[in-house]
Amino acid sequence: MSAQILGRSVDLHDSGLGIRFTVEQNGERKPAFAIRYQGTVYAYLNQCSHLGIPLDIRPGNVFDASGELLICAAHGATYAPDSGACAGGPCFGEPLPGLSVYEDGGKVVLDDLNYKLVPGK
Ligand code: FES
Repeated sequence: MSAQILGRSVDLHDSGLGIRFTVEQNGERKPAFAIRYQGTVYAYLNQCSHLGIPLDIRPGNVFDASGELLICAAHGATYAPDSGACAGGPCFGEPLPGLSVYEDGGKVVLDDLNYKLVPGK
């Protein structure tokens, strides 16, 4: 799978709104998002470990008020932004699955053999 551009680096601010996108895995479409935390870009499936629904109600709004944790708007499960590890609440130790991303030439790039970017969200 070749590298696939998710968006512009300049649009991801530390602990700010994430970029939402959709990927396909084994023929199944899944929501995902990319964020920036302490200068580094990370991406995860947008499927809370509790009920499998997206974390955000307002698109891309996945950080808690402290900017130190990702939080699910439904019931408050929290995850570490730099690993996806469950940090508290009803994720019960289950992490958010991560996607491999990097930045190149001002672009955020998905580079993960397991996921194919679905154009147009
Ligand atoms: S669905 Fe995310 S905490 Fe319940």
